[in-house]
Amino acid sequence: MKIDRLELTSFRNYGSLQIDFEEKTNIFYGNNAQGKTNILEAIYLSLTTRSHKKSKDHEMIRFGMDEAHIRVFLEKKGITRKIDMHLKKRQKKFIAIDGVPVKKASDLLGLANIIFFSPEDINMIKNGPSERRRFVDMDLSQLDKLYLSSLYGYSRALEQRNKLLKDIAYFKDNSLSDMLDIWDEKLIEYGSGIIRKREGFIGELNEILKEKNRKITGIDEELTCVYEPDATIEEYREKLKKNRYNDIRSGSTSTGPHRDDINFSLDGVDLRKYGSQGQQRTASLSVKLSEIELIKNRINDAPILLLDDVLSELDNKRQKCLINSIGDIQTLITCTGLDEFIKNDLVKDNVFYVENAAVKKKEVV
Ligand SMILES: Nc1ncnc2c1ncn2[C@@H]1O[C@H](COP(=O)(O)OP(=O)(O)O)[C@@H](O)[C@H]1O
Ligand SMILES: [Mg+2]
Repeated sequence: MKIDRLELTSFRNYGSLQIDFEEKTNIFYGNNAQGKTNILEAIYLSLTTRSHKKSKDHEMIRFGMDEAHIRVFLEKKGITRKIDMHLKKRQKKFIAIDGVPVKKASDLLGLANIIFFSPEDINMIKNGPSERRRFVDMDLSQLDKLYLSSLYGYSRALEQRNKLLKDIAYFKDNSLSDMLDIWDEKLIEYGSGIIRKREGFIGELNEILKEKNRKITGIDEELTCVYEPDATIEEYREKLKKNRYNDIRSGSTSTGPHRDDINFSLDGVDLRKYGSQGQQRTASLSVKLSEIELIKNRINDAPILLLDDVLSELDNKRQKCLINSIGDIQTLITCTGLDEFIKNDLVKDNVFYVENAAVKKKEVV
């Protein structure tokens, strides 16, 4: 799959922009704060419903304007789709696919498979569990509609249960406790679906991970990832019951997939606790490369890769490894200079110079 074209109106620092992309590598270079990341953000947003930076809609509208428009032409297995997204200051965003308005933003998920790789992702292993969950959730949501609806169902039920917990503590009304059973059952229903699919995804990732890591490091060491569910499906109901009293006291639900984590280890040693920064970063790169392969395996097509300023964060060997593995998939890369590409002899299909919200195509020889 690939993105053929992007059109922006009043998005971030862009007044108006149209870009046609190449099938393979597209490089955006220029100084800081010129608008390179904004291009990737617009694409990611229009295909996943949210900004990779978790920005709010109104923050992405050009200063002083009331609406921002994004239009993306996407090609998948020979079929072209047109996606329109209008961000509004005080209203929900408008979305249309092929000119037909859609009610739920989540209808966008699954149209494309998109992987975002930023310097923050390089610290995925070092950071807190919520980022590791987000990584799994973003991929699975694009791969599996049922997973997405379980996630929605779960977060709704969690919200309701937490509200009820607070009411019980506030009103000291034990009859409300009976209602907790209803929400517990909902959590178990949706949560079990989430746990099962995370288990499958992380297991699959683990199969690919070892090999990728060996390729990057050239060392015969074993990188593994293991799913660490807060509660397994079998123990979920029991754990919810056991924690009920404490949950009422704290006014929040202490167990379930919203507390899950993934553990990464190198030759059996926990990378988060004991890994050097270099080991953690290399492992994150291995995870990203495995992610590409996992998606390829599942959908029998290549995902679209967005690389935001990551090359300069990697040493020469890892740059090469990353660049070699993206050869056949459409990649949009931002960077401040072209040195890395010239050094690595990367095919320069499409190079754009970005300066003060103007994007100019450059001939590089
Ligand atoms: N809503 C907005 N309206 C206008 N300009 C914005 C908005 N949001 C961010 N910007 C501007 O966009 C620029 C940053 O763009 P970005 O794509 O992150 O730069 P870079 O080229 O470093 O990746 C900054 O100059 C910032 O002020
Ligand atoms: Mg940037």
